[in-house]
Amino acid sequence: MKDIKEFIKKLPKAELHLHIEGSLEPELMFKLAKRNGIKIPYKTVEEVKEAYNFTNLQSFLDIYYAGAKVLITKQDFYDMTWDYILKCKEDNILHTEIFFDPQTHTQRGISFETVIFGIKEALDDAQKKLGISSKIIMCFLRHLSEEKAFETLEQSLPYKDYIIGVGLDSSELGNPPKKFEKVFNEAKEHGYKLVAHAGEEGDISYIEDALDLLHIERIDHGVQAINSEALMQRLKEEQIPLTVCPNSNIELKVFENYKQHNIKQLLDYGLNVTVNSDDPAYFKGYMNQNFFNLVDNIPLTKEDIVKLVKNSFNSSFIEEKLKQEYIKRVDEVVEKYE
Ligand code: HPA
Ligand code: ZN
Repeated sequence: MKDIKEFIKKLPKAELHLHIEGSLEPELMFKLAKRNGIKIPYKTVEEVKEAYNFTNLQSFLDIYYAGAKVLITKQDFYDMTWDYILKCKEDNILHTEIFFDPQTHTQRGISFETVIFGIKEALDDAQKKLGISSKIIMCFLRHLSEEKAFETLEQSLPYKDYIIGVGLDSSELGNPPKKFEKVFNEAKEHGYKLVAHAGEEGDISYIEDALDLLHIERIDHGVQAINSEALMQRLKEEQIPLTVCPNSNIELKVFENYKQHNIKQLLDYGLNVTVNSDDPAYFKGYMNQNFFNLVDNIPLTKEDIVKLVKNSFNSSFIEEKLKQEYIKRVDEVVEKYE
């Protein structure tokens, strides 16, 4: 392989774990703060970046929710989403499934409609102008109550056609899947697909319960699975996708450094692993940068990279025909690099 990074850049990719609020770059945060007359506790972009010095998931979430307060109008949500789409274009992402956190906004008096239409209109333009396809997944904040999650599910129903599924994010420890068993069951009855963050900081019981109680189709993160042989065996047999986010895991100290990251072990075991950027504005880089950091530190082969990329398309919620078209486009690039 001449240059593995060139190969990574050229490969068509899909993203399955991306919080749209986590794509809000400091530059846009300043612009929106000014536009909306909102005070933020930083004077310069450099100061913002210095504050992104996380010690764990909660230390990140505190800053991430504070940052989201600059988002007020539909145009704000459109601008943030469009900026992310331009990064997709740069990184050769053909399809993206993005999370949004309605409660982060409805709690502040922003309507569900403002949020969903701002995001959706940018994604519609992404398809029209750039040929990038997408799906939207709505996440419940797990530090809030079950009752609040039910309210949010109810609020989402008029916009069901624009939302493919529901997820679960925010503070994992102390907020186990069991707390959301009923609301996930109801979401399923409404036809939503189900995913959940599990095994990011939480132990294997969070992954097992997300599978057994919430009946999810994909596990977001899931890297703690390595601590149970039985669970690893199950994930392999059932080929349940794991949406792994390397930069996020390093920035939130889930692993000490990239060399310690277990993605290669998970992959070699035969798990259905994918690479994703999670909150790229906060975790120092988008999709390609996640791959670059991996290949700089871990002996991933060209075949490993192709497998990771194909896993993402195969694990996406895209209709089968389009999935096959995308995979064919991956194969075309692979052949050229033989
Ligand atoms: N984990 C949990 N909640 C989140 C994350 C994450 O990585 N990013 C945004 N909300
Ligand atoms: Zn996440």
